[in-house]
Amino acid sequence: MNNNLILGFLCSHGGSNMQAIIDNIKNGKLNAKAGAVISNNSDAFALKRAEKENIPAYHISNKTHDDVDAEIINIFDKYNVNTVILAGYMKIVSKRIIEHYNGRVLNIHPALLPKFGGEGMYGINVHKAVILSGAKVSGATIHLVTPNYDDGRILNQMEVPVYTSDTPQILADRVLETEHILYSDTLIKIANGDIKI
Ligand code: GRF
Repeated sequence: MNNNLILGFLCSHGGSNMQAIIDNIKNGKLNAKAGAVISNNSDAFALKRAEKENIPAYHISNKTHDDVDAEIINIFDKYNVNTVILAGYMKIVSKRIIEHYNGRVLNIHPALLPKFGGEGMYGINVHKAVILSGAKVSGATIHLVTPNYDDGRILNQMEVPVYTSDTPQILADRVLETEHILYSDTLIKIANGDIKI
């Protein structure tokens, strides 16, 4: 089964999750197409990664456009995007975008939701909170996006151990490695129908 995934990426920073997905498209593990990449941050390394991979890349923000949502939809529709992939995207996604893509908007969160999610729980803050909590396990979550932070249907999760010697950065690096596996694994399962969105 092939759900003909055409991916539109929304990134704000490094884009390593996006790169991992692109690498799995190139090596044939993931049957999907990278349609376009949009960042709200003109300096995002994700844009440079996209350009290197010859994927259309755009900087769209409220500094460049009056109606950011309309521009995101306009660009993604130009490349026939049918699934939106948030990969380190720091902005809230509006109902308008979520409805336009029939709810097919995914995000990756660097913890085991519903724990350690919600407003302010991003980046190193997440790992600090996990370590402070004394949790022995953390991980990453792929979920559908709603107009609120981190509260859509959970599609897939992967766990990593937390060691007493861990600093927040050591844990962040361990979780990020897992993210790179989890996102592609989830998209492979969506493409072959094992996960329904
Ligand atoms: C990852 O930790 C992800 O969980 C979070 O933002 C970070 C993105 O990293 N949403 P990158 O931009 O994909 O390298």
